Amino acid sequence: MNKRVDESVVMPVITIDGPSGSGKGTVSRLIAHQLGWHFLDSGALYRLVALVALRRQLELSKEAEIALIARELDVEFKVNSSVEEARILLEGTPVRDEIRSEQCGNAASKVAVLPAVREALLQRQRDFRRLPGLVADGRDMGSVVFPRAELKIFLDASAEERAQRRYKQLKEKGMNANLAALLEEIQVRDARDRNRSVAPLVPADGAILVDSTTQGIDEVVAGILEEWSKLT
Ligand code: DC
Repeated sequence: MNKRVDESVVMPVITIDGPSGSGKGTVSRLIAHQLGWHFLDSGALYRLVALVALRRQLELSKEAEIALIARELDVEFKVNSSVEEARILLEGTPVRDEIRSEQCGNAASKVAVLPAVREALLQRQRDFRRLPGLVADGRDMGSVVFPRAELKIFLDASAEERAQRRYKQLKEKGMNANLAALLEEIQVRDARDRNRSVAPLVPADGAILVDSTTQGIDEVVAGILEEWSKLT
């Protein structure tokens, strides 16, 4: 048996890539929970790097400084056994809503175009691959970070539907939201994520395309688990 087959039998990876609001975070978490596997929220790493850069009031284009933040990031994901988000400790202190804000998401998308930042986070992301398996959520999980993943999914939804979902989420949290502004932000961020020169948001080779515009989360999860069961 060659090494590749060996590794994949022991530590399988399912990658779920797609734009924000496609539902991939929730879907990935549910799949990891159902399979009893580990979960990588790679977007959180970019958001944490952005948060530190914002706190230090750095210009978000300063590649060397921001790559240093990425290399030295002192972060711990406190995973619980439920499907809830992991508790994230940055330098020992919990962060949650701060990294989920629109401001931090936009800043994350800006630092994510910097090749040295992506390079600095690469091994850290690969280290999440542990027994009995990993569900990896992001933009380049199947194309760059885990190119040999057993199952690759590209989860998409229309920008309008994604803006509606975000609007509802913010309203539910009692926060102010403007649908037209959210749609515009989503379109700008999509364009930046899809058109950057390093690891752009594109379906990986061999990825199965899933559109969640008109499908509920449960339906998407069931479809992906069915794809996985065909491989095992
Ligand atoms: O998935 P998210 O919205 O938390 O990601 C925030 C930003 O981080 C996103 O706009 C692009 C970037 N990102 C990335 O470039 N590569 C990843 N694997 C994950 C996120």
